[in-house]
Amino acid sequence: MGFSFECQASCSHTQARVGLFHTPHGVVETPRFMPVGTLATVKGITPRQLKDAQAQMILANTYHLHLQPGEKIIEQAGGLHRFMAWKRPILTDSGGFQVFSLSQLRKITETGVVFRSPRDGSMIELTPEKSIQIQNALGADVIMAFDECPPADASKSELEASTDRTYRWLERCIQAHQRPQEQALFGIVQGGIHLDLRAKSARKLVALDLPGYAIGGVSVGEAPELINATVKYTTPLLPKEKPRYLMGVGTYREMVNAIASGVDLFDCVIPTRFGRHGTALVNGTRINIKNAQYREDFTPLDPTCPCYTCQNFSRAYLNHLVRSREMLGYILLSLHNITELIRFTQRIRDAIKSDRFVAEFSYWLNDY
Ligand code: GUN
Ligand code: ZN
Repeated sequence: MGFSFECQASCSHTQARVGLFHTPHGVVETPRFMPVGTLATVKGITPRQLKDAQAQMILANTYHLHLQPGEKIIEQAGGLHRFMAWKRPILTDSGGFQVFSLSQLRKITETGVVFRSPRDGSMIELTPEKSIQIQNALGADVIMAFDECPPADASKSELEASTDRTYRWLERCIQAHQRPQEQALFGIVQGGIHLDLRAKSARKLVALDLPGYAIGGVSVGEAPELINATVKYTTPLLPKEKPRYLMGVGTYREMVNAIASGVDLFDCVIPTRFGRHGTALVNGTRINIKNAQYREDFTPLDPTCPCYTCQNFSRAYLNHLVRSREMLGYILLSLHNITELIRFTQRIRDAIKSDRFVAEFSYWLNDY
């Protein structure tokens, strides 16, 4: 009903494609970078600014929103879209990854995960059913299966056991999902760097005929070549006619190579986190705006960038703000960085449409 994915153009040398993902809150043109709004806010950026940056779908987090303010409040407010005044599509991550990466004293059983709340020390349990119940209350367009994301140093047998359990949790997520017409539940392929485990995970997920698929468990500390190899192997195992989402990846090289393998959606905290640390993404490189060389640089970060920051402020001004720890400095850098990554995926879409993807992005491509 509310969801469909159509492929508009594809590259003749790679698996790259341009698609339209239709959701109840509008269309998402892919490939696309999705800004992260963990606590129902993309840190420092208003929804109006996000719209100006051409953001279409943004992320929020089950784990964080359950802890604060709690899904009841957001439900009372009329759902996440209304609460945060973002009328376009939203995707919520399930909390699986965040429990594993952020909380201490967790205990994993077949039932779910018990952990200590970092807020008040109380014990909290997240299960597949609970994660879906929270995500149903939040009301995002896309909700994610509750999965386990083991660290890069997990052994193969640990990874296999965890991947099998993630699959059983997915079956419970599907059972628990109360709003399949309004919210698309994506499954998450796990398996670490082991291609046989990835294949088994993908095969079992695809048999469930879900509205979309994600590749998880990458960028958890493994070498970049292994990220690429895993994505290149796994993506073609997922159905062509469904959106494919690579979780937590948002560096230029990894996005370009993943797009070449057929990935459609990306998210990453890099643009906002870097912004808060005084780093700007400019033309595929990182610059530390605090450096002395920018003190008297009265040019914009990127003269070709349409963002509010680049249209109005110089590197010298940004250098001054960040050196003075003024919050506007971090805000302006975050705004530019988000615009930059969304524009980068926009340039890739344009290149795929004119079948010039390999020609224009060969600098980043590993194997073509
Ligand atoms: N974000 C980045 N990687 C992952 C993952 O493997 N699972 C989930 N749920 N979120 C992620
Ligand atoms: Zn800019």
